[in-house]
Amino acid sequence: MGAVFGGVMSFFDAVVGTLLVFAVGVLVLGLANKVWVYAATPAPLRIPTTPAPLTRLGAAGRLAREVLLFESLFRADKVLWALSALFHAGLALVLLRHLRYVLNPVPWPIEAIQPLGVLGAGAMMVGLAGLLARRLFLPSVRMITRATDLAVLVLLLAIGATGLVMTLAAPADIMGLKIFLAGLWRFAPAPLPDDPVLVLHLVLAAVLMAVAPFSKLLHMAGVFFSPTRAQCDNARERRHLVSWARPLDDLRPR
Ligand code: HEM
Repeated sequence: MGAVFGGVMSFFDAVVGTLLVFAVGVLVLGLANKVWVYAATPAPLRIPTTPAPLTRLGAAGRLAREVLLFESLFRADKVLWALSALFHAGLALVLLRHLRYVLNPVPWPIEAIQPLGVLGAGAMMVGLAGLLARRLFLPSVRMITRATDLAVLVLLLAIGATGLVMTLAAPADIMGLKIFLAGLWRFAPAPLPDDPVLVLHLVLAAVLMAVAPFSKLLHMAGVFFSPTRAQCDNARERRHLVSWARPLDDLRPR
């Protein structure tokens, strides 16, 4: 949009830029705050889903398999697992591919995965479409579906669709975008490329980032603190006490 105003940052560009900075701030601070709350919340009761690993290292391995392979979901529901895996793996590739918009020079691994990133976008969209169809058409899931569940999926689909329009049909000015984004954190205002699809993509991405800490997207951080997954089964070896119960415990006759 800057081009319209002769190559300087217009008011409109400034609004989009501010929105992006605000959204990144909310994402980072919001996630940090939730992680802090989770980490500071006592979990003195041993409630890992059994059979569970007996050591902390084993529990870390189990958690890693959960995060990287969705192990328990695989056992529970193969179709949901396949759709989730397609979406998350696709999203991971897409986000890695996106690093080229903010890194200069672009590291070779990011350069190398660029074509894979486009495949990732396809996988992400197929996964999202399947997850949305499941919520809309499977009666048992529809019954427990709330508007926000659908909104997050539709938002992600809209971000993916606008992204794919730029990748496949109406190429965006990547250099212009890089200069605009670099200008945001270097306080050197630069115009946003004159591209409505890109603007829509950025605004939708900003909304996604800003709602992430307050929506179910928070599971990206919460999974690491889920006692049933992250704890090891050592209740017989160690006595687990919440800090406020310690003085009372000291009074206990031994
Ligand atoms: C401020 C953040 C973002 C910026 C600056 C950005 C920028 C872009 C640009 C310029 C393209 C076109 C790529 C090309 O023509 O080669 C694109 C594509 C795409 N974007 Fe984004 N995007 C952002 C956030 C996101 C987010 C959060 C998602 C997913 C949730 C996403 C998903 C996609 C997808 C699926 C594509 C198409 C595949 C691809 O080219 O990678 N974007 N994005």
